[in-house]
Amino acid sequence: MPSPKVAVVTGAGSGIGRALALACAREGMAVVAADIETEALAQTQALVKAAGADCMAQRCDVSSAADVEQLAEASWRWRGGVDWLFNNAGVAVLGTAWDATEDDWRWVLGVNLMGVAHGVRSFVPRMRARGTPAHIVNTASAAGLATVGGSAVYCASKHAVVAYSECLAKDLEQVGSSIGVSVLCPSLVATRINESQRNRPAALAAAGPTAAAYEERVRAGMASSAVSAEDVARAAVEAIHARRFYVIPHARTGASVQDRSQKIMGDFHDIHQENLQ
Ligand SMILES: NC(=O)c1ccc[n+]([C@@H]2O[C@H](COP(=O)([O-])OP(=O)(O)OC[C@H]3O[C@@H](n4cnc5c(N)ncnc54)[C@H](O)[C@@H]3O)[C@@H](O)[C@H]2O)c1
Repeated sequence: MPSPKVAVVTGAGSGIGRALALACAREGMAVVAADIETEALAQTQALVKAAGADCMAQRCDVSSAADVEQLAEASWRWRGGVDWLFNNAGVAVLGTAWDATEDDWRWVLGVNLMGVAHGVRSFVPRMRARGTPAHIVNTASAAGLATVGGSAVYCASKHAVVAYSECLAKDLEQVGSSIGVSVLCPSLVATRINESQRNRPAALAAAGPTAAAYEERVRAGMASSAVSAEDVARAAVEAIHARRFYVIPHARTGASVQDRSQKIMGDFHDIHQENLQ
């Protein structure tokens, strides 16, 4: 019997990451679960094993290039390769654009953007050297396709993940690689993302103020979301099989993207009206 394919999931200790790890287990894959929280990670490992899959748990702070490099090394030592990589770990801060502190920026960009970049830097060269088909899913957000007040730092990080993923897909295509790329863009889903501060490093503790109204909007959005973390994970796995790039599980995201695109094109037409006539 051929050995099972291998999936690596960062941020696997909770929410969408845990659901992705379990979805990969259901695909018959062996799972490398990575997270900064070791207790939550151990719970995910037990759940994945209970689902009948082999699972290695690895503590990893994705904002650290050295940690992510060790994750890749450990994955290759464990099973000799990785078929699917989910760069999923992420954190959020809320507040006005002008209240965000330097620590807010360093923390959120370090995890959400550099975490994805470190994953690509450590895994893609190894995947290319191995030469077998592989797939990378970067978790961005609907906040990477549209924008919302009170989320400047988070939206900036997620727009960067979408742009970075688009460039990654182009770079891989240009070198004729068989590595596929998808970018996962859910809107609000009930997880512990609104408790992100639990993982904030002491060295980046100076947080900007968060208005209660922003927190309430997120809480209410999560509570009323008809889409679960499991739905998001299922959509991601389906997209890998279909080799679809944009994974947008919430139907309403389409209206936000259209609204933003129309505003961009409206201003474009205003400036270029004379040339267009
Ligand atoms: N929940 C939502 O509404 C939503 C919507 C769109 C996108 N997302 C994105 O989904 C991803 C998963 O978030 P979630 O909603 O499941 O939240 P969550 O808080 O439930 O899970 C995030 C996981 O990432 C881990 N993590 C945090 N910092 C880390 C670090 N430096 N290194 C490694 N792991 C770290 C946490 O310990 C946690 O287990 C994030 O990228 C988030 O931005 C979430």
